[in-house]
Amino acid sequence: MKFQSIEKKPKNNFEDSQTKLWRTAEKLFPGSVLGTVYYPDEILKLAGFKQIFIPVRGEGAYIWDMQGNAYLDYTMGMGTLITGHCHPSIVRAVQEQISRGVQFLNMINEPAVLLAEKINRDIPAAEKVRFASTGAEAVNYAIRAARAFTGRSKVLRFEGAYHGNHDLGLMSYLPPDDALPIFPEPRPDSAGIIPEVKRHTLVGPFNDIQWAQDFLHSRGSELAAVIVEPIQRFIPPVSGFLKVLREETIKKGDIDGCHWH
Ligand SMILES: Cc1ncc(COP(=O)(O)O)c(C=O)c1O
Repeated sequence: MKFQSIEKKPKNNFEDSQTKLWRTAEKLFPGSVLGTVYYPDEILKLAGFKQIFIPVRGEGAYIWDMQGNAYLDYTMGMGTLITGHCHPSIVRAVQEQISRGVQFLNMINEPAVLLAEKINRDIPAAEKVRFASTGAEAVNYAIRAARAFTGRSKVLRFEGAYHGNHDLGLMSYLPPDDALPIFPEPRPDSAGIIPEVKRHTLVGPFNDIQWAQDFLHSRGSELAAVIVEPIQRFIPPVSGFLKVLREETIKKGDIDGCHWH
């Protein structure tokens, strides 16, 4: 469960404007969502969402809907809001910078250099820094770098993991449940993905140590990268799964083990 209701307000006339906003969104946004993925109502209900949930404000650990109900926000922007919603020093820093301008194309600027220096100091693996606005963009960069580095094109990912809205990300993220998967065959989640992408995307079962070991042993040398969510959505890794991925990718020489949070 992602949002936990901590306070319930009685129904009031906000409900009408909320429903109106929802209906307008349904008309304007493909699949009535802002992202790429449409979640069926059954899944939203399982995840604790009401059918109509329109957030209007966030502060610290909490988020409020249009009716004034408060919720504890366990998602925190998938980790990007590590200091919670609207941390005062972040609000201040953003306000200060926005008043000086924020769009300088890709021109080197002091805040970018200072941030890159800090990342480089605090994360030893970050020898070079490339900023990205979204996770999908970052995964794209990482996969392209892995392909360039290894001279190979195939990437192994795991069924049910989300890595962004690019073609490889939309392979077996939400596969239909009317047919059993045939690993490592990918199943596209969206129309419009050209068949060639399927040939370069291999899909494995998350947390199946034996499968991963056997597959990487026999076909690891075809891979440019293995991408995995260390905690896949809500599923923690079984003991030894990530270790096997790391060990087998190292054994295969130059495969990149890209671990995404
Ligand atoms: C593990 C992981 N990778 C990539 C992404 C894609 O990020 P974005 O939605 O910013 O493109 C997400 C987003 O939920 C994610 O959880």
